[in-house]
Amino acid sequence: MDAVALVTGANKGLGRETARSLAERGMAVLLGSRDAERGAAAARRLAAEGAPVTPIRLDVTDAASIEAAGERIAREHGRLDVLVNNAGTVVESAAAEMTADVLRRTFEVNVFGAATAVGTLLPLLRRSPAARVVNVSSTTASLALTSGAGTSAGTPRCARPTRRPRRRSTC
Ligand SMILES: NC(=O)c1ccc[n+]([C@@H]2O[C@H](COP(=O)([O-])OP(=O)(O)OC[C@H]3O[C@@H](n4cnc5c(N)ncnc54)[C@H](OP(=O)(O)O)[C@@H]3O)[C@@H](O)[C@H]2O)c1
Repeated sequence: MDAVALVTGANKGLGRETARSLAERGMAVLLGSRDAERGAAAARRLAAEGAPVTPIRLDVTDAASIEAAGERIAREHGRLDVLVNNAGTVVESAAAEMTADVLRRTFEVNVFGAATAVGTLLPLLRRSPAARVVNVSSTTASLALTSGAGTSAGTPRCARPTRRPRRRSTC
């Protein structure tokens, strides 16, 4: 039984490469794209390069499109094992030039879009014996890495356990 993975925003960039990598590992990969044509073109390219994937239309800012994708995945696979929340917009503006509108549009995709995808697809993920959700983010989005709260190596410190000292902490 192949694991079923959905990668959002996978018609190009890191999403497409993630889709390729999962397909090469034998997963049944659904390549999410907000534009059906761009998704189909990316899927054709990956198939030609030996990584078969299935394009699926999904705009993370459009709840109805996430629901429709979920219904299709339920019909065709019955469950979802891996959801990669990759769809995102990268803001190039310097902080001083950032407007509320740019922030609002970015949050609609990068934050609320990812949250809506998880919420909508949760029933399908719960049907998996070992579901995984991967949220793709960035250094800029990390308070620890941008505020100097991490270690000198730039890695956030694990919170130290206070109530159960014998248990190992995880980040
Ligand atoms: N590249 C970096 O250096 C970097 C650094 C830090 C974080 N990241 C994060 O990594 C992820 C991928 O980045 P990338 O560099 O590969 O970006 P990219 O090449 O611009 O690809 C972004 C993907 O997200 C899709 N997308 C945008 N809005 C969407 C929506 N509303 N619904 C569904 N899909 C949508 C785009 O579709 P369209 O083609 O239709 O626009 C595209 O497929 C993003 O979450 C980004 O924030 C990247």
